[in-house]
Amino acid sequence: NQLEMELEAIEKGGYDHFMLKEIYEQPRSIADCMRGRLDASSGRLVVGGLRDYMNKFQNAQRIIITACGTSWHAGLVAEYLFEEFARIPVEVEYASEFRYRNPVLNENDFVIAISQSGETADTLAAIELAKSKGATIFGVCNVVGSSIARATHAGSYTHAGPEIGVASTKAFTAQISVLTLMALKLGYQRGMIAETRYMELLHELETIPGKVERALQLNEQLIKIAEIYKDARNFLYLGRGYNFPVALEGALKLKEISYIHAEGYPAAEMKHGPIALIDEEMPVVFIATKDSSYEKVVSNIQEVKARKGKIIAVVTEGDTTVKNMADHVIEVPSTEEAFVPLISVVPLQLLSYHIAVMRGCNVDQPRNLAKSVTVE
Ligand code: G6P
Repeated sequence: NQLEMELEAIEKGGYDHFMLKEIYEQPRSIADCMRGRLDASSGRLVVGGLRDYMNKFQNAQRIIITACGTSWHAGLVAEYLFEEFARIPVEVEYASEFRYRNPVLNENDFVIAISQSGETADTLAAIELAKSKGATIFGVCNVVGSSIARATHAGSYTHAGPEIGVASTKAFTAQISVLTLMALKLGYQRGMIAETRYMELLHELETIPGKVERALQLNEQLIKIAEIYKDARNFLYLGRGYNFPVALEGALKLKEISYIHAEGYPAAEMKHGPIALIDEEMPVVFIATKDSSYEKVVSNIQEVKARKGKIIAVVTEGDTTVKNMADHVIEVPSTEEAFVPLISVVPLQLLSYHIAVMRGCNVDQPRNLAKSVTVE
């Protein structure tokens, strides 16, 4: 009815869809997530939920991350973060697989469960299983007081605010923000990050909301790219290192809301299969920011170009090499390699959004999907 529609319009705050509103909220939601936890000028980094479990965390033999969907992608980013900064081995598990294969687990394992809703049945069941084996379970949830938040020993909320769009956007970047804080804290406590480097990282982390704000200014350019590729039948997303999970997430966003078939792949694995799909009809999205695997990604771009694939590349501001090869370049602000996903995922969210809108899809409530999946 009329009243409901008006109420919804108010809730959308002037945006056409909740998803777009939530994409635009990211500078604020990331800042909210760091507020009270990080103060770079004094070198203060507190992750409240960890306090009573810091010993367990620091001395963990292994960190196991379990989640589903987009939250699982945040877990993959965390794998790189924890291994790089804290030097503890990490495994990232789909909750639905983990719980059914009699996993080897004990009291020295530290399990992190990531969930926006805090209600996902598979994740909840994985937690119960890990608990029964004596592991410590830490939750990273968005919804306060949710089932997963209650079932875990301790946890940290992402503080992204309510996420209404079924396709997760601001919850994803908030999850990565919390996990980044945890990785830095852990690495520092374990003596794996030198003081000056630590301070440098904290300062850089504080600049992320501003850089995400700048990434949002790419919107007009992404509308133009969406126009060109909205009728594509397939998409390939490629990235390496920290941008590999971003490639997976970019592909998932497109699938979820536009119903275009999309695959995310580690760029170097392309030659072991997906390269067979490349022809002049195939748009390939590269996340090719200036980092330790940049040169390698550039050669992957050349391989796609040689096969006439259409290249859409997310690059670091000022990049000229990729500009000469790609059909479209999307320039994002530079940051520490470990913090890149927080920025590089933003144009991919916008690209999917615009393609879906142009195709007339129900962006906020895509067919067959639910915001929280409480069945196994
Ligand atoms: C559903 C949603 C996804 C979400 C996944 C995990 O499939 O549609 O957006 O990533 O569940 O949800 P959770 O609430 O546990 O993060």
